[in-house]
Amino acid sequence: MTSISPASSPATAQARRDPRIYQPFMRLSHLLDGEKPGASPLPDGAPISLSIGDPQLSAPPLLAETLAAYPNDWSCYPPFRGTPDFRAACHDWLVRRYGLSPETLDADRQILPLPGSREGLFFATLTAINRGAAEGRTKVLIPSPGYHVYAGGALAAGAEPVFVPARADNNFLPDYEGLPKETLDRTAIAFFCSPSNPEGAVASREQWRAWIELAQRHGFVLAADECYADIYTDEPPAGLLEAVQGPQGTEGLLTFHSLSKRSSAAGLRSGFVAGDSELVDGIDAFMRYGGASVPTPILHASAALWRDEAHVVETRCYYRTLFEMAEEKLWAKTGWRMPAGGFFAWLEVGDGEAFALRAWKEAGLRVLPGRYLCPDEEGAAPEDNPGAPYIRVALVHEPQVTEKALDRLAEML
Ligand SMILES: Cc1ncc(COP(=O)(O)O)c(C=O)c1O
Repeated sequence: MTSISPASSPATAQARRDPRIYQPFMRLSHLLDGEKPGASPLPDGAPISLSIGDPQLSAPPLLAETLAAYPNDWSCYPPFRGTPDFRAACHDWLVRRYGLSPETLDADRQILPLPGSREGLFFATLTAINRGAAEGRTKVLIPSPGYHVYAGGALAAGAEPVFVPARADNNFLPDYEGLPKETLDRTAIAFFCSPSNPEGAVASREQWRAWIELAQRHGFVLAADECYADIYTDEPPAGLLEAVQGPQGTEGLLTFHSLSKRSSAAGLRSGFVAGDSELVDGIDAFMRYGGASVPTPILHASAALWRDEAHVVETRCYYRTLFEMAEEKLWAKTGWRMPAGGFFAWLEVGDGEAFALRAWKEAGLRVLPGRYLCPDEEGAAPEDNPGAPYIRVALVHEPQVTEKALDRLAEML
């Protein structure tokens, strides 16, 4: 394969089919890997990665303890639908977290384990495009900036991604309601993320209601990416399921959850999808061809983690401390205020790509240019890329490291 085109050069039609086109971290490597990093503010001057949202906290001991309690469960192929106990644990967490009545969901028919929510989001697009083919539904609505897997799924499905800007003047939420009717009627699936990556914006219950109403009226699948649902600064963000009402119930609706952030267990690869049972069956069917089922000991450990809240309270405090530190250090230079959820600072710095290069070369700090979370369309001006003025800074390192990195970033602004 030829080398990936620099992020700042517009995509040609052929390049747009390249599966690397939406990969933010490949684009970042392309930008930085040939450049020598400057000395970072750490005593040994080693580079600090602030680009990936890898939790740095240790996973709670409960995880390893539960895994160790099932040494004999590794020998068999795991059940694709998980165990009744795993489904019950996810169901009960949803009921507790969103104040649902237990009948809102049938745990056995409407919940499917996932080897990470990323995999489920990807397979959901294949499922929705396949289901919508007979009606000519070829479009996938994607917030821009947004998590790159939504676009990757559209690419793999041969679908047409429609990137909808999520800008500060709309609380960083995409305005799908404002799209033309012809677009909405040809949409197979629309993605929403709350708390959103990268901005940490959250949707209100009314907003979820409006999106549900829009999706059910136009007959497309609504995929709610809520993998940061438990990482919030003050109030627990509203979720898709608590906004369900009316005769159509969960028809066309899917919500994706994960232990990666909630339990600092990104390496466990464990999440689940819940919602419309036909769509859940569809994702299950596709995953049986090309996905991985979640190993039985991991299902046991995951059930234990979904039932435990104590470790999540500590995790939230940790991220809140880092958010407070970042606000104190960055507000005066950028006007950035801590958002309602997530653990990223989405900072307006002028030219985000140029800033990222400078931060690497001068200070050994690896941050993600916001434009890499948006498509760079052929012929588009930089101002058409809503992420271009921003960088994304992952606030995940221990406070001493984060503090040094933030002080250095603030100096550079
Ligand atoms: C917005 C968003 N959705 C989904 C995921 C996938 O998480 P996982 O596959 O670890 O559950 C991530 C991971 O960073 C994310 O940021």
